[in-house]
Amino acid sequence: MAAIGIDFGTTNSAVARVPSGGGVELATFPFEGAFTDAYRSLLYLEQIKERGRNTVKSFTGPEGIEQYLAAETKGRLIQSLKSFLSSRLLESTEIFGKLYTVEELIARILQDLRARAEQQFGIRIDAVVAGRPVRFVGSANDSDDDFAQNRLQQAFQLAGFESGRFEMEPVAAAHYYESTLDHDELILIGDFGGGTSDFSLIRVGPGVRKRGRKPEDLLGNAGVGVAGDAFDAKIIRHLVAPALGLGSEMRSFGKTLPVPSWLYAKLERWHYLSFLRARDVMNTLRTIRAQAVEPDKIEALIEVIEEDLGYQLHRAVQRLKAGLSASAAAEFRFSSGSIDLRATVERQAFELWIWEELDKIAVCVDSLLLSANVGAKDVDVVFLTGGSSFVPAVRAIFESRFGRERIRSGNEFTSVARGLALAAAKFEFD
Ligand SMILES: Nc1ncnc2c1ncn2[C@@H]1O[C@H](COP(=O)(O)OP(=O)(O)OP(=O)(O)O)[C@@H](O)[C@H]1O
Ligand SMILES: [Mg+2]
Repeated sequence: MAAIGIDFGTTNSAVARVPSGGGVELATFPFEGAFTDAYRSLLYLEQIKERGRNTVKSFTGPEGIEQYLAAETKGRLIQSLKSFLSSRLLESTEIFGKLYTVEELIARILQDLRARAEQQFGIRIDAVVAGRPVRFVGSANDSDDDFAQNRLQQAFQLAGFESGRFEMEPVAAAHYYESTLDHDELILIGDFGGGTSDFSLIRVGPGVRKRGRKPEDLLGNAGVGVAGDAFDAKIIRHLVAPALGLGSEMRSFGKTLPVPSWLYAKLERWHYLSFLRARDVMNTLRTIRAQAVEPDKIEALIEVIEEDLGYQLHRAVQRLKAGLSASAAAEFRFSSGSIDLRATVERQAFELWIWEELDKIAVCVDSLLLSANVGAKDVDVVFLTGGSSFVPAVRAIFESRFGRERIRSGNEFTSVARGLALAAAKFEFD
């Protein structure tokens, strides 16, 4: 039996395994003339006429991006699918007249990850150790998390995995971090992704491994469904939505009303954006355009939805965030078709936009320490990982509590997959 580790992320996925010679090998994926180990967790569906009949083709990851960009008439590009898992309301969705469950859509991505890994590693893969967040996006309690995990498990089964188990994502990151240690430590892991921020307080090191890991080595896990995508939502709310009509007015039956804000609440979440392109929503939008005081803005909103510009918008927001992680100010530019939005954003302004999210993250960390009865001084090292750990305001939460000298980081996009691969090697053995 061959087992691999798969970190199915909200934004990026990664796949790894432990080869017979030891170490960790990552799967790599061709993209834009190079190879990447971070596979964009997106799905692109396109309706194609073949021999006079309509068929739906689906593409994932880099291939999905390339197909989407090349398409004259855009199909449907879905991002952040993982964020649907806890939602009992969304069982299935209609795309090009056919119903798909969330599990089926996710399974398409997992299938391609598995096929690529089999090809690159030259083995038949039947088992997996898969990551899961401590709290799924949108989950309110353990029962929502169980529901979400069951769905994710079904997606893995649909993708052809015969057996496997789940590991908490921050615990997996801890396994990876442990592999770099020559002494034991009590560590706090903070993994900040696209959908979730996850924490583990855990004792690791060669000594712990040698004597055998005990349940009490894991002092606690905590998580919150707030991370990079929630930061993106605030960028869209402040920079993009106003240019697309949020806060503008429409005249209806002699009354002046604000343009409905629910449209923009969907626009700012990647997993909903592509689903705005439905007949009833488009009809509503056309009615609003006819009554709008500033119809050009609604026209631009219609263009974003009709052309399914979520991918370009995501890229623009991602570039801004990376710019703000590196400098005190950065340029925002979202340009596509007749839309051309530009703005200079100060890091300070961005931090004000996301203060609520930062606060939720800080509360989560503090409550983990409190419930484990561990003081900040007892933690030897804080390991920060995941793409959103680059955000200086996220790091500041830890710098103020633990001091810079105790903070480590690295392998932001692969630490979880590396840890899952180490767990998968053990799973093969069991
Ligand atoms: N330099 C950067 N500055 C700020 N944010 C960044 C940077 N690079 C990546 N990100 C953000 O990191 C997030 C993706 O991180 P990552 O790949 O670790 O998430 P994920 O594993 O897919 O998500 P999750 O773990 O929540 O399921 C995105 O929101 C992305 O915009
Ligand atoms: Mg992650």
